[in-house]
Amino acid sequence: MMGMLRHFLSVLLGVLTFLVLIKAQDQSGFISIDCGLPENLNYSDKITTINYISDANFINTGLMKSPLNVSRYTFYEIIYTPSIDYIQPCLVNTGNGTPFISAIELRPLNNTIYVTDSAKSVLSLLTRLDIGSITNLQYRYKDDVYDRIWLPFQLIDTKPLNTSNGLLIQSIYSPPAIVMSTAATPVNVSAPIIFHWDADNVTDQYVIYMHFNEVEELTKSEARAFNITVNGLFFYGPMIPGYQVADTILSPTPLTGAERYIISLFKTENSTLPPILNAVEIYKLKDFSKSETA
Ligand SMILES: *[C@@H]1O[C@H](CO)[C@@H](O)[C@H](O)[C@H]1NC(C)=O
Ligand SMILES: *[C@@H]1O[C@H](CO)[C@@H](O)[C@H](O)[C@H]1NC(C)=O
Ligand SMILES: *[C@@H]1O[C@H](CO)[C@@H](O)[C@H](O)[C@H]1NC(C)=O
Ligand SMILES: *[C@@H]1O[C@H](CO)[C@@H](O)[C@H](O)[C@H]1NC(C)=O
Ligand SMILES: *[C@@H]1O[C@H](CO)[C@@H](O)[C@H](O)[C@H]1NC(C)=O
Ligand SMILES: *[C@@H]1O[C@H](CO)[C@@H](O)[C@H](O)[C@H]1NC(C)=O
Ligand SMILES: *[C@@H]1O[C@H](CO)[C@@H](O)[C@H](O)[C@H]1NC(C)=O
Ligand SMILES: *[C@@H]1O[C@H](CO)[C@@H](O)[C@H](O)[C@H]1NC(C)=O
Repeated sequence: MMGMLRHFLSVLLGVLTFLVLIKAQDQSGFISIDCGLPENLNYSDKITTINYISDANFINTGLMKSPLNVSRYTFYEIIYTPSIDYIQPCLVNTGNGTPFISAIELRPLNNTIYVTDSAKSVLSLLTRLDIGSITNLQYRYKDDVYDRIWLPFQLIDTKPLNTSNGLLIQSIYSPPAIVMSTAATPVNVSAPIIFHWDADNVTDQYVIYMHFNEVEELTKSEARAFNITVNGLFFYGPMIPGYQVADTILSPTPLTGAERYIISLFKTENSTLPPILNAVEIYKLKDFSKSETA
C-alpha cells in the first residue's frame, strides 16, 4: 500500500493548490512534476535521468505560469507518511507577492529509516551534508537510490579523507557510496570534530542522523574510536566505524530544549586516530496534524 510508505516531498518554493494522486510514473516509484511544462512534453533530466511530466493534469485552482526568471533555486523538503492516497500541496500568499512553484517531486522511502514519534509528525529537512567532499559536487539520484540531495560541505579545522575505491557495505539508510567515500577528520589529531546549529525556538525538536564509514585501512597498531556528545552530554560511544561499512547513528528521541546544539566527536583514550564524520542529516520535527485532511 502506498499509504504505508513514507514519502518525501521536495517543493521548489512558491494560492496554488495541486491534487496529486500518489501513482508512480515509473519503476523507481518517483513522481516528478515540472510546473508550467506544456502537456505531453514529458522529458528525462539529462543528469539524473529522472522523468518529468507536466502539471497540467494536476492543477486544481489558482493562477498559473507567469514567466519567472529564478536564478537561484530554493527547495523545501519534508518526509511524512500519508494516510490518504493523494497529496494536496497548497501555496499561500503571505503578503510577499504571488506564490509560485517550479516543480513538485515525490519519492517513496522505506518506512523504517526515518522515524517520527507519530503519524502526524513530519520531518522537515534542515540540512543534508556530504562532509569532507573532495569533488565539491552535490549528489542525488542515481547516486542516492531515494534521490535525497547531498550538499558538499567542509567543517572548519578539518581535512578531507577519501577512499579511492568506492566499496561500501550498505545500511538500510543507503547513504550514497560516493558521499560515504569521503570523510572529515580534525587537522589537529588530538582535537574533536565540532559542529553546531541554532534552534529557531527552544521548544523546537530536531532529529540528527550521522553517517560513518572507515575510509582508511587501519594497521594492527591503529585504532579509531570516538565518543559523541550533544551540548557536552554523552550521546553515543565508543563509535568504531567499520572499514567500508556504512553505519548510522541517530537520536533515539528528538533533541529539544536548547538554543544551540553543539555536536562533538572526541577520540577515546585508546584511539590512535582522530574521529571522522562522513555525512550528516538534520531534520526539524513538525506537527502536521491540522494539515492533512480528507
Ligand atoms: C507523459 O507522461 C504521462 C504520465 O506518465 C503519460 O500518460 C503520457 O503518455 C506521457 N506522454 C508522453 C508524450 O510521453
Ligand atoms: C535570467 O536572469 C539572468 C540574470 O539576471 C539573465 O542573465 C538571464 O538571461 C535571464 N534568463 C531569462 C530566461 O530571462
Ligand atoms: C526497502 O527495504 C527493503 C528491505 O531492506 C528492500 O528490499 C527494498 O528494496 C527497499 N525499498 C526501496 C524503495 O528501496
Ligand atoms: C584519494 O586519496 C588518495 C590519497 O590518500 C589520493 O591519492 C587519491 O587521488 C584520492 N582519490 C580520489 C578518487 O580522489
Ligand atoms: C590540538 O588539540 C588539543 C586538544 O583539543 C589542544 O589541547 C591543542 O592545543 C591543540 N594543538 C594545536 C596546535 O592547536
Ligand atoms: C516558541 O514556541 C512556543 C510554543 O511552541 C511559543 O509559545 C513561543 O511563542 C515561541 N517563541 C518564539 C520566540 O517564537
Ligand atoms: C567514552 O564513553 C565511554 C562510555 O561508553 C566512557 O567510558 C569513556 O570514558 C568515554 N571517553 C571519553 C574520552 O569521553
Ligand atoms: C583501553 O586501554 C586500556 C588500558 O590499556 C584497556 O584496559 C582497555 O581495555 C582498552 N579499552 C578498549 C575499548 O580498547
